[in-house]
Amino acid sequence: MNSYVNMAVGALLGTVFVLMTVSIASEGIFHSESPEKEGFAIVAEEAAAAGGGEAAPAAAVPIAQLLAKADAKAGEAVFKKCQACHDATKGGPNKVGPNLFGLVDRPIATHEGFAYSSGMKDFSKGGSEKWTFDHLNHFLAAPKKYVAGTAMGFAGLPKDTDRANVILYLHTLADSPVPLPDPNAPGSATQ
Ligand code: HEC
Repeated sequence: MNSYVNMAVGALLGTVFVLMTVSIASEGIFHSESPEKEGFAIVAEEAAAAGGGEAAPAAAVPIAQLLAKADAKAGEAVFKKCQACHDATKGGPNKVGPNLFGLVDRPIATHEGFAYSSGMKDFSKGGSEKWTFDHLNHFLAAPKKYVAGTAMGFAGLPKDTDRANVILYLHTLADSPVPLPDPNAPGSATQ
């Protein structure tokens, strides 16, 4: 009777040992493999989006055409979403994000006194890139996709009208607003 119990316990322990070994071994395999797979999946997804795939790519309509139909007053309402982090008054403070007065045509990542992420600094190419209407259109559609590594914790404005309205509004907040892009100009398809 006693040896019977011993054998049963031994068999049980043996099974547990084998199961644990298998699970530890397989965990090791999955842990070393899964980051590679995830990275690959993301790259594939972005390639599909860039290629136009099934879903309409973000910011597909040229900003010049969107601005022609935009409404700055409606943009002021959209800007409420930004105000948690951005002040846009002249001489106003930096908050979680930099002050946005005079944003359009301003060199990227150059507002005084703000510590930009290295992602945003890289994107600015040392301040030689400016916030054009086109850059704003793409950045605000999907900030983290357009500027890899940006510290702007905002999901983006997927609706064309929201982006156009808020960009038109921001454009008015300047000492001398730059001219709007001509929706009929050749090349406006890419600007
Ligand atoms: C949760 C906070 C937050 C919200 C909401 C937010 N931003 Fe930002 N924004 C930031 C931060 C932080 C940065 C600095 C990004 C960096 O350094 O990578 C930034 C940077 C920017 C820049 C670049 C400015 C420059 O000087 O180069 C623009 C343009 C901008 N935001 C526009 C907007 C607009 C428009 C909205 C609303 C639709 C918005 N942001 C909503 C936090 C926010």
